[in-house]
Amino acid sequence: MVDLDRLPDLDPATVDPDPIAQFNAWLREARETQPRWADAMVLATVGTDGNPSARAVLLRGHDVDGFRFHTNRDSHKGRELAVNPKAALVFLWWGVERQVRVEGVVEHLSDAESDAYWASRPRGSQASAWASPQSEVVAERGALDAAAAAIEARFGDDPIPRPAHWGGFLLRHTSVELWQGRTSRLHDRVRYRPAAVAEGGATELPIRTWVTERLAP
Ligand SMILES: Cc1cc2nc3c(=O)[nH]c(=O)nc-3n(C[C@H](O)[C@H](O)[C@H](O)COP(=O)(O)O)c2cc1C
Repeated sequence: MVDLDRLPDLDPATVDPDPIAQFNAWLREARETQPRWADAMVLATVGTDGNPSARAVLLRGHDVDGFRFHTNRDSHKGRELAVNPKAALVFLWWGVERQVRVEGVVEHLSDAESDAYWASRPRGSQASAWASPQSEVVAERGALDAAAAAIEARFGDDPIPRPAHWGGFLLRHTSVELWQGRTSRLHDRVRYRPAAVAEGGATELPIRTWVTERLAP
């Protein structure tokens, strides 16, 4: 179990040079203290009117290419991402007094990747994804239940295919920030920035080389 009094110091010189490797180490420790919710992250998007919106989604895979999640592409967030693919994620791991902030650019996962995740979902979740016009106003709960039941009846014993409006996204990270609470309250923050950007240039995604910097808490 993670011992909050023995967490290693968070230092730009000693964190893993790869933000995903560092994230993996932190995610492992977060799962020890909040196994049910460690993979929940808040996804922030921006509308064409410039207004931000945020909601929780589940992390469904991550690697050096980025962070994956699945949702309704016609939803509020899906429509915002279609117009403005810049987005941010926040993981809040209160059990270990840590936060991870990620910023980046979102793109669709391939049909094959979306299908593979869809096939792993329980049948009830699949029926819900068909039945729920996510983010729309619904007159009453009963209408949703009836729509889900109709989908179950329509497909009978056959597999429920992935609807065109449901699929995966990959957020390609361009910045990652770690925050670790300290008893002194002068907390630690370390940010990863693309090395090419730190040197004044442009960079291509995915980013392989990063610089780490301490930020004031
Ligand atoms: C812990 C948690 C995990 C969630 N995971 C997802 C998810 O993976 N995909 C999803 O579409 N909605 C998920 N939701 C629901 C969203 O927070 C949100 O209500 C929904 O996606 C509609 O958001 P929108 O209207 O901003 O598009 C989750 C909610 C919670 C509390």
